[in-house]
Amino acid sequence: MTASKVSLLCVLPEAWRDYYLDGFRKRLPDVQLVLPQDAIPPESITYAFVLAPPPGYLARFPRLKAIMPVGAGVEHILADPDLPDVPVVRMVQPDMAQRMSEYIVQHVLNHMRRYREIREAQARQAWNLFVSPTAQDTTVGILGLGTLGQHAATYLRPLGFKVRGWSRTPKSVQGVECFVGDDSLPEFLSGCDVLVSLLPLTPETAQLIDAQALKCLPRGASLINASRGGIIKDADLIASLDNGEVSEATLDAFDIEPLPEDYPYWTHPRVTVTPHCASAATVEAVADRLREVITQVERGGMPSPVVDRTTGY
Ligand code: NAP
Ligand code: GLV
Repeated sequence: MTASKVSLLCVLPEAWRDYYLDGFRKRLPDVQLVLPQDAIPPESITYAFVLAPPPGYLARFPRLKAIMPVGAGVEHILADPDLPDVPVVRMVQPDMAQRMSEYIVQHVLNHMRRYREIREAQARQAWNLFVSPTAQDTTVGILGLGTLGQHAATYLRPLGFKVRGWSRTPKSVQGVECFVGDDSLPEFLSGCDVLVSLLPLTPETAQLIDAQALKCLPRGASLINASRGGIIKDADLIASLDNGEVSEATLDAFDIEPLPEDYPYWTHPRVTVTPHCASAATVEAVADRLREVITQVERGGMPSPVVDRTTGY
């Protein structure tokens, strides 16, 4: 890295602190790790590793050079009206992409092979006939053809799935039927047997999956939301599940987390709740990414890629 020790402020939920700090101590021995409660002059902090710092908090550090989010989603960070004008570096990590693709493949296969119904039948000791389509009969539509969406496509295609994707700007991805922009959304949705959300949460994508969007899906299509809860209008999804328009949903991210105990998703027979565990890079992978970014910046370069504050991702 560099001769002089750089300081990394870690603003994390308490439950996560030891995991990251222990890993960083081993992997980044030349970085001074600082916690918000440490008595250290604010001007000595040059990097911040953060999940969702309170609004205005990062503005206290006048010599920050870069902000590094824990994850790929940055909506909590960009919501700060006083966010310092330094690069917010994207957490792009092969380890995170692989884990996400594995989650998507797992749940696409579960939906296609009617695994939820098979589990229900087992609970009743019912030896039913289950006929499933094959991957070749199944189109998976990915909302968001960015880092994770494109990677997921590379896992789905070799299994035989037809893959289509939707993005804000035009894309050309081998083996993927690409749709672009709001006007193409109904046509995109109309061909999805399994709809997967890998969109960032921005003002444009908030509540995008509402009753109108769900009605564009073929009857009986299913949904996997591995991005952010705010992309879905929950009441509309529950109504679509109840009336059979949507056959089932696997949901990993929610507007309020942890999901409140009385939230209808917990007990809905057609919903699988996973506790925001689709993908997180390991501390080793995160530390390697931090080292790469700090090295770039300390050498006078611009870290890359960075969040575009105008688009919000
Ligand atoms: P990314 O590389 O920034 O990709 C985002 C994609 O969404 C891009 O293809 C982008 O289009 C598209 N998009 C954004 N706004 C759009 C709009 N208004 N209309 C159409 N398309 C739009 O992000 P990523 O790294 O793949 O991550 C995606 C999200 O996954 C993150 O923001 C985070 O919320 C979530 N995530 C969840 C977990 C988990 O464990 N559940 C883990 C990691 C990430 P363009 O390509 O045209 O820009
Ligand atoms: C996790 O949700 C992330 O945004 O990385």
